[in-house]
Amino acid sequence: MDLIYQTDCRDISWERVRNLLDIVGMSTVDAEKHRISFEASHSVIFVFNDTVLIGFGRMISDGVRQSALYDIAVDPAYQGHRIGQEIVTRLMAATPGCNFILYASPGKEGFYKKLNFKRMKTGMAYFMNPERMIDRGFVKDE
Ligand SMILES: CC(C)(COP(=O)(O)OP(=O)(O)OC[C@H]1O[C@@H](n2cnc3c(N)ncnc32)[C@H](O)[C@@H]1OP(=O)(O)O)[C@@H](O)C(=O)NCCC(=O)NCCS
Repeated sequence: MDLIYQTDCRDISWERVRNLLDIVGMSTVDAEKHRISFEASHSVIFVFNDTVLIGFGRMISDGVRQSALYDIAVDPAYQGHRIGQEIVTRLMAATPGCNFILYASPGKEGFYKKLNFKRMKTGMAYFMNPERMIDRGFVKDE
């Protein structure tokens, strides 16, 4: 596979972003909100197989101390080829010396453990839809 890694939002189809996130169960908003999220991020990666968008990720950051990873996704047809790992590694390289945090989708923790992420003991989240996040296994109902 001859993949292209794009590091800006030029000519991205936000409908395709929404569609891919929908396929992997991660899209809760419309294409326009995805565009705003990616364009407001510190760093983005879009992966193309020729002209087909097959994966992406984004990172918000202050650039010097703290970074957070979001929307890491690979088209199921292309999973298992180290593309996800490459997306995360490339995003992290954009802010060397920073701490990196994320919340993994339930069942994906092992993917991040392989990248040397550790489980947080004191992570706290204020979600806009707490019931949904409890149902999906992201937070405890306590
Ligand atoms: C999670 C995801 C990004 C991984 O991308 P990928 O390209 O398939 O994964 P990679 O091929 O880069 O995997 C790298 C390593 O992690 C391992 N790995 C991948 N998914 C894993 C999982 N769910 N649990 C444990 N290990 C996993 C791989 O086996 C591989 O290990 P190896 O180096 O020993 O061979 C992809 O499965 C995906 O898009 N899933 C749906 C969306 C999602 O849940 N994203 C994460 C949001 S937090």
